[in-house]
Amino acid sequence: MKNSRIPGFYQLDLAARREALHEAMSSSAGNTEHSTPSGSLAELPELDEYASILEDGGLSAAAADKIVENVIGRYSLPFGVALNAKINGRDRAMPMVVEEPSVIAAASNANKMIRAGGGYDAEMLSSEMIAQIELREAASEAAEILLSHRDEILARAAAALPGLIRRGGGPRDIEIRNIGERHLVLHLICDTGDAMGANLVNSAAEAIGDWVAELAGAQLGLRILTNLTDRRMVQVKVQVPHNALVSSSKSVEEAAATALAIEKASIFAERDPYRAATHNKGIMNGIDSVVIATGNDYRAVEAGAHAFAARNGTYQPLATWRSEGAFLKGELCLPLSLGTVGGTLRVHPSARLALALGGIKNSQELCCLAASAGVASNLAALRALATEGIQRGHMSLHARSVAIAAGAEGDEVDLIAKRIAKKKEVNLATAKAELNALRR
Ligand code: MEV
Repeated sequence: MKNSRIPGFYQLDLAARREALHEAMSSSAGNTEHSTPSGSLAELPELDEYASILEDGGLSAAAADKIVENVIGRYSLPFGVALNAKINGRDRAMPMVVEEPSVIAAASNANKMIRAGGGYDAEMLSSEMIAQIELREAASEAAEILLSHRDEILARAAAALPGLIRRGGGPRDIEIRNIGERHLVLHLICDTGDAMGANLVNSAAEAIGDWVAELAGAQLGLRILTNLTDRRMVQVKVQVPHNALVSSSKSVEEAAATALAIEKASIFAERDPYRAATHNKGIMNGIDSVVIATGNDYRAVEAGAHAFAARNGTYQPLATWRSEGAFLKGELCLPLSLGTVGGTLRVHPSARLALALGGIKNSQELCCLAASAGVASNLAALRALATEGIQRGHMSLHARSVAIAAGAEGDEVDLIAKRIAKKKEVNLATAKAELNALRR
């Protein structure tokens, strides 16, 4: 994508918005690094097909019936994009599927602020999955024996993963953890390439479990991945110029005060797990939205994020903020195991479309994009909380859902939403009364 800024995007109607995004994704002039969406794993479909995927949610009931059991239909959620993002020097649309009003608008807004400081600096610190093989009542010398058989363990695990080995991935190392009372865990560490990797590492662990237990003179316990994927870590750093945090009418002092207020909000989360939980929920607003849009397992991501947040025995914020000089500096670090091949992606046209919109080439790029959306959501939430509070923005957006629930259609939705928000009576009864009045 040449430019992820599309002025007035949110004011367009649905059809015009789809077209504007398609046009922005298709225009490639000037983007030297990855010139077209075809640089991504999934091609952006032609306008008609793209619009029809977005119109009907992509997944047919017949396809859904093949994915899970006892299917009776499909369940839709809003699919939007956050604009203005620049990640590692490249403009990208952030595809987001989420039911909560204001998450996408807030991310677009924060993207703009972060862009003013050069955008997101995102990288995968490591990209390996871990399968656990639990060993009970192990022999006293079991750990030494297992370590001395490291190469054979890796070779046997590799033999269970021929497809992955062909694609350049495979088992890389082992680790023995002693969790007490002759209770050991063998961690089989695997590079699963662009796959999320759960099925791959589970297969390898099941394939070698019996033999490993025999080697360790132990009873075989569970064989399953850990969702605390702390060998698949993503880190994002941003620096936002103070003046980008406030409107242009504000003074340098007011801008610096906003940055300091955000720093204080970060410190609150660093000191108090009750606040850290909500701080992290705000981060996951952005991350989960991208994870769901791209057909990935958001329960796995959530489990990993919160386990990592609690790794030191106290629940900690995943992102922290400090005001330094004329900049607000933010940093997010969390485990993220997202796939760009296999799983739902094979069968879900909307998930493939999300990858095309994000210009995603591989798992690492997707993790960087999702984590950046987490930083955007966190910054937007802290800025609102530390200044005017969250409710004003939330309520005006929530008012639209209430207007729709009251039966408003088309242009009526915004009119009714504005009226009930202005009256500070965002409830169904007032929305219905206003709708009746409007229609009369
Ligand atoms: C609401 O979905 C998310 C927030 O509560 C996050 C936060 O408090 O930082 C606004």
